[in-house]
Amino acid sequence: MNRIFSGVRPSGKIHLGNYLGALKKWVELQDDKQTESIIYAVVDYHGITTPFDPKEYKMQIMEAALDFLSVGVNPEKSLLIRQSHVPQHTELAWIFNTITPVSWLERLPNYKEKLASSPKYNHMGLLDYPVLMAADILLYKSNAVPVGEDQKPHIDITNEIAKKFNSMFGETFEPVKPIFTEAARIMSLQEPSKKMSKTGDDGIALTDDPDAIREKIKRAVTDSGSEIIYDSKNKPAISNLLMIYHVLSGKSLEDLTEQYQNKNYSQFKNDLAEIVVGYLEPIQKRRKEFSGDMDAVEKILTNSEKKAIDMASATLAGVKAKMGLL
Ligand code: AMP
Ligand code: TRP
Repeated sequence: MNRIFSGVRPSGKIHLGNYLGALKKWVELQDDKQTESIIYAVVDYHGITTPFDPKEYKMQIMEAALDFLSVGVNPEKSLLIRQSHVPQHTELAWIFNTITPVSWLERLPNYKEKLASSPKYNHMGLLDYPVLMAADILLYKSNAVPVGEDQKPHIDITNEIAKKFNSMFGETFEPVKPIFTEAARIMSLQEPSKKMSKTGDDGIALTDDPDAIREKIKRAVTDSGSEIIYDSKNKPAISNLLMIYHVLSGKSLEDLTEQYQNKNYSQFKNDLAEIVVGYLEPIQKRRKEFSGDMDAVEKILTNSEKKAIDMASATLAGVKAKMGLL
């Protein structure tokens, strides 16, 4: 049986990459027979490891929670928490800090990328990011983590930390597996060699209005040659658009290739824009409904956090007992 945990940083608008790589799977797992328990988190302590605006941050955290609810995270099936409201996350992270070699962290690609994009933000928290992530997951004895492909190195470190803890203090944590979707790496619409990200204007936010979506898809770069075929190596731009089309429409890549055999990019893009707009419409409608009652959203979060604290405290007590801390 799967005990699921996953999180998204509230560091910018949640986009189609987040949705197709992670959130869509989060929702599906709620009805999977193998699922035993689920916790989805707005990982606000991770979000402060890169530049952020304290005046905006509280709102951004609530916006992320709204996004979770609007795509279909159901509080009756999943706990929906703010990481910083469950203090055991940082407590377990501190313990893991004492068993994690710095060399494991320095070589991680995400660390190097983030450091390159904000060189002044070189602090302990950025380096330590994966240790907190390991604590997030292991705090609930989770064993399955739906994430995009970029998080694979972090899941590997989580397993290394779990193994090391078990060997030093006795069997405590089970192996953790990532769960990927077939669209585990959605690329930027402007630079298809980079992943779609929360910074920059290269992605489609779940909250973008129809005209913004149409404009972004119209402006999306394409590859040389006019063929509309899936070939992620040689045609990364059109393959990325085809993948988005395929997942949102449910049409197979083969059917789409056939459908657009004698059509041009602009016909393809017009159709794709309408697919995206149509797909996001009910999500945006639900978002509006939830945002009309933020007290109810706050209640969902605090109720979930109470339950999460109980689960987390039990794990932490076991960990501390094994280490002679109790
Ligand atoms: P982040 O925006 O880094 O907090 O990511 C939240 C979740 O979305 C993680 O599971 C990421 O792996 C996933 N994700 C982020 N960007 C992409 C992308 N371009 N394609 C697929 N998944 C992504
Ligand atoms: N590191 C993840 C990201 O940037 C977010 C995250 C933090 C996470 N803790 C997690 C994802 C635990 C899965 C499980 O996307």
